[in-house]
Amino acid sequence: MMLKLLHYFLFTGLVAAENGRQAWLRYAPLPQGHSTPLPLSIIALNSSTNSPVNTAGEELQKGIQGIFGKQLSIFNTGKETSSAVVGTVSQFQKAFGSSPVKDKLEEDGFWLNIKGSTVQILGQNERGALYGAFEYLSMLAQGNFSNVEYATNPVAPVRWINSWDNMDGSITRGFGGNSIFFADGHVVSDLTRASEYARLLSSIRINAVVVNDVNANFTTINPENIQGVGRIADIFRPYGVQLGLSLDFASPMELGNLSTYDPLDPGVIAFWDDITKQIYDRIPDFAGYLVKADSEGTPGPMVYNRTLADGANLFAKAIKPFGGIVMYRAFVYNQLPDEGDWKADRANAAVDFFQPLDGQFDDNVIVQIKYGPIDFQVREPASPLFANLLETNTAIELQVAQEYLGQQCHLVYLPPLWRTILDFDLRVQNQSSFVRNVITGEQFKRPLGGSAAVVNVGLNDTWLGSHLAMSNLYAYGHLAWDWTSDSEEILQDWTRLTFGLDKTVVDTITQMSMASWPAYENYSGNLGEQTLNDILYTHFGPNPQTLDNTPWGQWTRADHTSIGMDRTVSNGTGFSGQYPPEVAAMYENIETTRDDLLLWFHHVNYTQKLKSGKTVIQHFYDAHYEGAETAQKFVTMWQSLKGKIDDERYEDVLFRQVFQAGHSIVWRDAIVNFYNNISGIPDDAGRVGHHPFRIEAESMELSGYQPYVVSPFEAASNSIAIVTSTNSTIGTATKVLNFTSGVYDLAVSYFDMYGGNSSYQVFVNNRMVGEWVGNIVDIGKLGHTPSIHLDGHSATRITFHQVPINKGDMLKIVGQANGVEPAPLDYVALLPAGVID
Ligand code: GCU
Repeated sequence: MMLKLLHYFLFTGLVAAENGRQAWLRYAPLPQGHSTPLPLSIIALNSSTNSPVNTAGEELQKGIQGIFGKQLSIFNTGKETSSAVVGTVSQFQKAFGSSPVKDKLEEDGFWLNIKGSTVQILGQNERGALYGAFEYLSMLAQGNFSNVEYATNPVAPVRWINSWDNMDGSITRGFGGNSIFFADGHVVSDLTRASEYARLLSSIRINAVVVNDVNANFTTINPENIQGVGRIADIFRPYGVQLGLSLDFASPMELGNLSTYDPLDPGVIAFWDDITKQIYDRIPDFAGYLVKADSEGTPGPMVYNRTLADGANLFAKAIKPFGGIVMYRAFVYNQLPDEGDWKADRANAAVDFFQPLDGQFDDNVIVQIKYGPIDFQVREPASPLFANLLETNTAIELQVAQEYLGQQCHLVYLPPLWRTILDFDLRVQNQSSFVRNVITGEQFKRPLGGSAAVVNVGLNDTWLGSHLAMSNLYAYGHLAWDWTSDSEEILQDWTRLTFGLDKTVVDTITQMSMASWPAYENYSGNLGEQTLNDILYTHFGPNPQTLDNTPWGQWTRADHTSIGMDRTVSNGTGFSGQYPPEVAAMYENIETTRDDLLLWFHHVNYTQKLKSGKTVIQHFYDAHYEGAETAQKFVTMWQSLKGKIDDERYEDVLFRQVFQAGHSIVWRDAIVNFYNNISGIPDDAGRVGHHPFRIEAESMELSGYQPYVVSPFEAASNSIAIVTSTNSTIGTATKVLNFTSGVYDLAVSYFDMYGGNSSYQVFVNNRMVGEWVGNIVDIGKLGHTPSIHLDGHSATRITFHQVPINKGDMLKIVGQANGVEPAPLDYVALLPAGVID
């Protein structure tokens, strides 16, 4: 019936509603005219329920049914011709006598041979066979009916996901609802979503998931929860996805009642040996441990004056007999008390801590390194630690969760950012040494390596909270298989699989996504000065002053004349000297430092000329206006797809794009005002601080409303908003309009805090233009609750289009407070066609 309906919708040109839960594995029927000879049956060479080959057979059946409406039977033996045979190479040899595979297959690799209706999908192992089945289905779903014959292998064995899920069911930096794994201190009983997740992950060739937060809780490994995570592992197994766990270094004390967690203490060693055995008793294919120690307050070996290598090797030795590995995070730094110390620099920490230990980590330890030296910022140089561990396995840590990049409420397609790091040549020993080759182990001939991405899917049907953000997860898997894959081609595959084959849809989403990271960088933080969001609160909206004068060490050193971190050896923190000589020399010199990293490496006057010819400050201004303008275009680009995408997903994305358009203006104004204020240098183009189309709320006639000074000042236009005088008051703000008669877009800037849903009405001459409720946060539409204050996180806009205005009309806004939210308003903008402000 379902299928008939789908074909009906297709035939009539209607698009059936979808909630996104199937992500890129929808197996939607192809548009008419797409046909190919199909296999007559499926031969899956292993039929035991837990086997990935069995899963592959079922997936092929489901996919072909969905795409072509044909029900194929699954056998475990039969005639090879006109069948889709899936299995391992050795299973194939057993069944058919010899192997057709012409190239070498490595662990997890597969061979795909399509000759019309005869298809061979052979993995080096069962997992590889499943990957191959997904690949074949991906081709079919995209209407790609080529005959092909090739082998493909992963560039690295470790292609992991790190989930930051907590035992209480919350997710650190999660923007898509609560955990699919945990609630109230236990593993949830219904693991349907975990199984669906494993299916998605195996289709992008992810081979392990660490299910709990790096800030781990010892209860995860108590006897009850070991059984619980064992159930997750059981659910993952048919998809070839292994389970990993984050550890709390102090567990020997907290769980084992020992008086120490010293990694060299025999009792502690015995404790971890025992825990590891318990885990492997329940989960024989357990992947390994992830350890965050001595970092941001977590316990670690340094508490006992032991080295980080002592800490890592403690687990490595416990897990070695079982074949597991330890991912030991390099995100270790001290909080720096004093920005007055010109030479202090958090960016130095990873190399300072880890380089002296090179060669001391056991062979089954991988040091997991965040892509940049600070923390998932919008632009960072590659971490120099990649160039400093020649006798240690390494992996890169990426973040699909857009913690500092709009938290899934701004569209930011991340692969182009990741590629700036992966394609960076570190010139170790003056030889070509791209980060992508270091982390695979190839460069320094290391046995292990790879990547981990922080991915915070939740119970939301969209997984990440945003349909478009899923391209980042899809792309991560494909890049982890081959870092040289083309970011744009991956995106286009994802778009076709997620939204269908319509060329306009594919082109538009490609254009939006490829423009998204540059736009976000433009309106957040430029020239390598980091994202400039509020690092003391939610990491979402703008608040540049929080970066300075705090012990977190994400300093910009902005004062009235100059800005940037001097990280040179000659005069600064010495960070540039952590790179190999050629790269160090490049960054040491302002002339050879790229503009987009200038303020990362150098402290300069706002009037410093860039290579582009602009001054630093004028670049800030121009970039912010440009970035916000691009974000407005995303709305109209998306709207051009109405009717070509099902309404449910269309409306969901539209909501987010409208939000982003408004919030990009909040960002733009906050940052340009902040630097205009601190530098006193005007904008050459006269935009900053001049808003001829705005009516400040505080300049209106107020009744039941009163002015409110917003902090940080730059988060409100003219620094002042209005709020109702009490939390139960209805406030009114009126103003006689002195605008040329005409048709305008009427935008209202307001603050949507959590803890209340104020309601608003806008009138022109007592004719209602629009009404809304400030509830995007509280009803969960935004996917998270950025702020309980009036600030750069809660500031947002709503726009009513095509409003006729006559000179002398009376504008009136009525606001009804609710909960803790005092119907806060910032300004109204009356925008003639084409004006963005
Ligand atoms: C960031 C993030 C934390 C996280 C930490 C980490 O600082 O804000 O929530 O715990 O990174 O990666 O360990």
